[in-house]
Amino acid sequence: MDVLSALGGLGIIPVVKIEDSNDAARLGEALMKGGLPCAEITFRTHNAGESIQRMIAARPGMLVGAGTVLSVEQAKQAVSAGARFIVSPGLNLLVIDWCLEQGVSVIPGIATPSEAMLAMSRGLNVLKFFPAEALGGISYLNAISPALPGARYIPTGGIGAENMITWLKLPYIHAVAGSWLVTSKLLKEGGFDEITRLASQAVENVNTARQKTEAR
Ligand code: 3PG
Repeated sequence: MDVLSALGGLGIIPVVKIEDSNDAARLGEALMKGGLPCAEITFRTHNAGESIQRMIAARPGMLVGAGTVLSVEQAKQAVSAGARFIVSPGLNLLVIDWCLEQGVSVIPGIATPSEAMLAMSRGLNVLKFFPAEALGGISYLNAISPALPGARYIPTGGIGAENMITWLKLPYIHAVAGSWLVTSKLLKEGGFDEITRLASQAVENVNTARQKTEAR
């Protein structure tokens, strides 16, 4: 299965900012225990590359990607650390083209139909819809999606346990993503059991959303 299909199958991508790369291995374990073998480690700290490397070394079965990738330089760093997918908050054609050349899965951020069209012109149809809730949430995406057939979205920004099911029930949603499962506070306090609990609750929510959708 390719990386984007695997992410779609999981239905949820935990967005993680790791200040201390010593946390990477335990965090991987906590997410795996919760049934979520996946993480997007953001380039918002200087040790993102090292954290990616350490999570994969400790948990080789995990699907680890890089987030907040703003430059080709960061994309290169992420991929050499072992990242299997690259996520950006916006559309950077240099990053996209580099990833396509390398055969690395890339998920650009889009906020408008024009940005979605540009990404689609590069053959990309799985797009990060960011910042989802602040842009107008489901009503905004419902308004633009009929005009962009084939596009699938990963809404991010303002998604949490309370609204993820509603998002996941929409037919054009590939997965949801967000930072609520692994907050900086939980990481700082060593709240790995709570991270496991939030991960397994999110997995349950994915199952609930998809069962209901299938039953319709
Ligand atoms: C991201 O980088 O993907 C977003 O900042 C995550 O948004 P959230 O913190 O609202 O989940």
